[in-house]
Amino acid sequence: MKYFWLLFFTLASLHASSAGELYFSGNCITCHHPTKTISAPSVVEFKKRYSNAFSDKKEFVNYMSKWVLKPTEKGSLMHDAIQKHGLMPELGFDEETLREIAAYIYDTDFTKKGELDYWSR
Ligand code: HEC
Repeated sequence: MKYFWLLFFTLASLHASSAGELYFSGNCITCHHPTKTISAPSVVEFKKRYSNAFSDKKEFVNYMSKWVLKPTEKGSLMHDAIQKHGLMPELGFDEETLREIAAYIYDTDFTKKGELDYWSR
C-alpha cells in the first residue's frame, strides 16, 4: 500500500507541470468544474469575476489566496454564488500553497480545459 501511494504521487507530480497545478487538480476540481457550474461556480466563472476586479496578477493572487484561506461572505466577490451554493468551506491549505494555486489559475486558460481527465472519466 505504501508503494502504491508513492507511485501515485510520483506519477501525479510528473504529469502536473507545477505544484499549483497538482494541488488544484487534486482538490479544487472536486467542486469546481473548469467550465460548468454544478455544485459550485466553474473556474472560468470565478476567474472572470476575479480578473474583472483585479487586472494585475499580483493583486489577483493576493486576494484569491487570502479569500480561499478563510472564505467569508463579506470578502466575497460572488454573493450570488453564495446564495445559490452556500459559502465555500475552509480547506486547511497554507497561504503559500494557495498562492501557487491562484497563480496557476491566473496563468491557465480553463475554457480549453472542459475535458480535464478527472471529469471525463
Ligand atoms: C467542497 C467544495 C469546494 C472545494 C473543494 C473548493 N471550493 Fe471554491 N467554492 C465552492 C463554492 C460552493 C463556492 C461558491 C460560494 C462562495 O463564493 O463562497 C466557491 C467559490 C470559490 C471562489 C469565489 C470566491 C468568492 O469571491 O466568493 C474562489 C476564488 C474559489 N472558490 C476558489 C477555490 C480554490 C482555489 C479551491 C482549491 C484550493 C477551491 N475553491 C475548492 C466550493 C468549493
